[in-house]
Amino acid sequence: MKNFTFYSPTEVIFGKDTELQVADEIRKHGGTRVLTVYGGGSVVKSGLLERVEKSLEKAGLPFTSIGGVSPNPRLSLARDGVKKAVEFGADFILGIGGGSVLDTAKAIAHGAANPETDIWLFWKKTAVVTKSSPVGAILTISAAGSETSDSAVLTNGDTGEKRGLNTPFNRPRFAIMNPELTYTLPPFQLSCGIVDIMMHTMDRYFTLTEGNELTDEFAEALLRVVIKNGTKAMENPHDYDAMSELMWCGSLSHNGLTGLGAVIDFAPHQLGHELSGKFDVAHGASLSTIWGSWARYCYQTKPERFVRFAEKVWGISGGSAEEVANRAIDTTVAFFASLHMPTCFTELGIGMQSEEVLGQMADSCMFFGKRKIGGFRVLDRDDAFRIYQMAN
Ligand code: NZQ
Ligand code: ZN
Repeated sequence: MKNFTFYSPTEVIFGKDTELQVADEIRKHGGTRVLTVYGGGSVVKSGLLERVEKSLEKAGLPFTSIGGVSPNPRLSLARDGVKKAVEFGADFILGIGGGSVLDTAKAIAHGAANPETDIWLFWKKTAVVTKSSPVGAILTISAAGSETSDSAVLTNGDTGEKRGLNTPFNRPRFAIMNPELTYTLPPFQLSCGIVDIMMHTMDRYFTLTEGNELTDEFAEALLRVVIKNGTKAMENPHDYDAMSELMWCGSLSHNGLTGLGAVIDFAPHQLGHELSGKFDVAHGASLSTIWGSWARYCYQTKPERFVRFAEKVWGISGGSAEEVANRAIDTTVAFFASLHMPTCFTELGIGMQSEEVLGQMADSCMFFGKRKIGGFRVLDRDDAFRIYQMAN
């Protein structure tokens, strides 16, 4: 086990009707003037936004709102949000939605606390976040894990760059998680979420670090629970227990726990971000598209790791390490397909891409020669190009 620091300070308020506690939570965490942030309208349609606003009114908390956050959230809207927060004098930012909304709320919080700095500089790593405003989350989709993660991902619509920022200042003060709020999810978003939850653990699990027993067992249990309850949720999205398991897995899969003490990988995420940045495809779909190709390209670095994954997660055994590893990869890809998720570019809806485009994505993924990605197998530009070719 390698040295680690684990800091997961978000207060989790889980269960039915918990959104009614929002005003108390905001006050408890020092908020007196609130900017609420939401997406393209699902929270308006479901009545959640109205319920939240009524609670704020009743508690005498002044608020203003910014809506219209899109999936693969845009820098431009986050900048508008910063302006609004500063003009209103908001001292608390409340995100009501999924990863896109929560990441935008985090960006607005950084901007509101540092109005002299253009927020994109934080994502370009030319400025460092040293203070931020407090953020609270009301989660409506089990997927990105932003409600407890230290990460926020923004897309610069002008350049097509999709970039993540990791900082402890990204951890929300509280996360209100009512599984019933996820009942209205379209099947495609439910599937995207299941894939993303799995990938947050798998991108940590595929590591060369040995002897990390608790973290490994924890990761394997989480994957089994997601696979079982993801299947149930697809059959009945009003299954409270299945939706609860997914919601809790979503947070624990990305708060750091499933990779503690190990070198983490996250190459599939980085490869996927290029697809979302260039073609505006859903995050979970980018991951299901890329993972099989990544795994087939990389497993030989340490087939034993895939054998353990096969046995502990899928109950697959018997045969050579090579055979078992390949069966595990095929089974995982087939599971994604059973969720109606794409597993190649054509299924993703972007069609076959030219070698020139694949090369552009590979270059961009490596920040034009400034970085390599991955911890299981370190990948350079040519590796990324070949993985994109395999997924094409
Ligand atoms: O915009 P609205 O109308 O709310 O609709 C959303 C959106 O169209 C809809 N939706 C959400 N909850 C719903 C609902 N529709 C009906 N009923 C509900 N209860 O679902 C669509 C997708 O929403 P989005 O917030 O984009 O989904 P998700 O939570 O998957 O977030 C994806 C974003 O998070 C980033 C991704 O890259 C992507 O930009 N990630 C953030 C991470 C983090 N901050 O830690 C880590 C992840 O790896 C990921 O990169
Ligand atoms: Zn993800």
